[in-house]
Amino acid sequence: MTTLQCPQASTGGLTLSRIVAGMWRMNEWDMTVAQRILLIEQCLEMGVSSFDHADIYGGYGVEALFGEALQARPDLRQRMQIISKCGIKLISPQRPAHTIQHYDTSFEHIVASAEQSLRALHTDHLDLLLIHRPDPLMDFDEIAEAFTSLIKAGKVKHVGVSNFTRHQFDSLNRRVKLATNQVEFSPLHVTPLFDETFDGLQDLGISPMIWSPLAGGRLFSRADSHGDNLRAVIQGIADKLGQPFASVVFAWIMRLPCAPIPLTGSGRIEAIEIAVRGATIELSRPDWFAILRAARAHEVA
Ligand SMILES: NC(=O)c1ccc[n+]([C@@H]2O[C@H](COP(=O)([O-])OP(=O)(O)OC[C@H]3O[C@@H](n4cnc5c(N)ncnc54)[C@H](OP(=O)(O)O)[C@@H]3O)[C@@H](O)[C@H]2O)c1
Repeated sequence: MTTLQCPQASTGGLTLSRIVAGMWRMNEWDMTVAQRILLIEQCLEMGVSSFDHADIYGGYGVEALFGEALQARPDLRQRMQIISKCGIKLISPQRPAHTIQHYDTSFEHIVASAEQSLRALHTDHLDLLLIHRPDPLMDFDEIAEAFTSLIKAGKVKHVGVSNFTRHQFDSLNRRVKLATNQVEFSPLHVTPLFDETFDGLQDLGISPMIWSPLAGGRLFSRADSHGDNLRAVIQGIADKLGQPFASVVFAWIMRLPCAPIPLTGSGRIEAIEIAVRGATIELSRPDWFAILRAARAHEVA
């Protein structure tokens, strides 16, 4: 392990690590409790102190895997921030009452889901709770009421949303103070640059969290001329700077003035370290635009 230290990020009154460890794929990592504890400790040593969850990850199983580690090592809890999400109901043997995959952003479900996350994670509070996806049946007043009630009870410290449009974010943010909007962004998904998502958050001084910054691994594997060209451009910049390929991608994301907070998706500490390394790289405008041009396969006008 190097002595590389991850900086902190502040958004909406909440302090997170600039790189957040995403736990979505944890059940695929097939780790013993001791291995999960080791990974958490290695992240904390590097300054990666924030961990991203959702009730549904791993078929409603990942929070419990992480919680098992915290139950064995309760001292780790005070050194970290835990993020979770609610609002999606999956068909699952763990939830036999669900008859159709759907969203539920009712007061009752938000509160019950947060309380279930606390039990699974073996903690008494979440640092951040997000509505996972915008729900066509969502009532902004009702969501704000549920969030406010959880905050008053001390069960949740901050609240936010994920995958919301600018207008949806503003509508809920007028009713309860939101700390972030967690959205998909990578060189293979540049939409938030052009649909006002990032502009709106920058205007409010709020950082987006970024999911699938490496396009879920497709940045390495996409097998067509677009993927090949994009990889060649990123690799060329990486070679010029003497930095790993993925560090350049994280640097490209963090170069944005809305100060994004990227999530990692890997269970390998080396891959998390490569993400942290991205925070040490300042890309020039020409290099940043070279990646945008390759991402969109056309010049700016
Ligand atoms: N809010 C939402 O709707 C939402 C949706 C999706 C995800 N998320 C969150 O975002 C987090 C990150 O998403 P993600 O997992 O899709 O992130 P990602 O970093 O885009 O993709 C991770 C995948 O890329 C692979 N990878 C990483 N570094 C690599 C390298 N150097 N070479 C080859 N492959 C590499 C990983 O494989 P290895 O494991 O082998 O390293 C892993 O399979 C999730 O854990 C979750 O917390 C949120």
